[in-house]
Amino acid sequence: MLTKTDDDSNTLFSDRYQQTYHSTFGASTESAHVFLHGSGTHDRLRDKRPTRILEIGFGLGLNCLLCADNATNNKTYLSYTGIEHSPISAAALIELNYGQLLDSPTLASDLAQIILDLPLKPGSTKRGLLGTYCNLTLHTEDATSPVLLERLKHGSRYDAIFLDAFSPDVNPECWTLAFLLQIQSLLAPNGRLATYCVKGSVRRNLVKAGFIVHKYPGPKGKREVLWANLASANRPISRSE
Ligand SMILES: C[S@@+](CC[C@H](N)C(=O)[O-])C[C@H]1O[C@@H](n2cnc3c(N)ncnc32)[C@H](O)[C@@H]1O
Repeated sequence: MLTKTDDDSNTLFSDRYQQTYHSTFGASTESAHVFLHGSGTHDRLRDKRPTRILEIGFGLGLNCLLCADNATNNKTYLSYTGIEHSPISAAALIELNYGQLLDSPTLASDLAQIILDLPLKPGSTKRGLLGTYCNLTLHTEDATSPVLLERLKHGSRYDAIFLDAFSPDVNPECWTLAFLLQIQSLLAPNGRLATYCVKGSVRRNLVKAGFIVHKYPGPKGKREVLWANLASANRPISRSE
């Protein structure tokens, strides 16, 4: 069901998870605040640093489109890997009208075309370009799949990981210590994980998985959100190293 949020950007309600895909206080505002800015991606692209992002829960592609738009504005390359077990249809994406939020609206039609061509088989991967600067790889698979995680470990590490599954009460597999340990190993030494979820059990799991957690004020409707970096990146180098 299409829902207009307070900043006029649209989202959907998921019958399966009984939650909206984004905050009803502002889908686009939340996405930009928590993921584009909170992950350090905005600053990296502004400084013209090519950036690699991994997203857990690609959903409606809003985070991806905002980042691709930013990369396009900055003429800086972005490699975006999304994992989603239940991709939306191209028709639903067109109805969301995310092109209206972008400086380069055709990025949304590029994404609709990639989704239109998606193989329906779970476990498949589709690659495509969003404009000139964003290379998208979309894995239609469960993010906790050991086969997929093993494949990702063979690639370069990510500068940012967006943890954007539904909340832990309805979508627990994406917030376990075991899963956080897996994605920790995919983050570049100076990379950042970003998420809207500041639940105590999630923060404790992040710390146990080797992250330092930084809470900061959230967008309208959310007191706090967080970003996390690798504790090992802050470790002083000993004389023997
Ligand atoms: C909050 S929505 C993501 C919104 C999205 N990031 C965006 O920018 O539009 C959560 C998404 O995670 C997906 N999801 C939940 N559990 C998953 C899992 N185990 N593996 C892959 N995707 C999952 C859901 O299908 C849903 O699309």
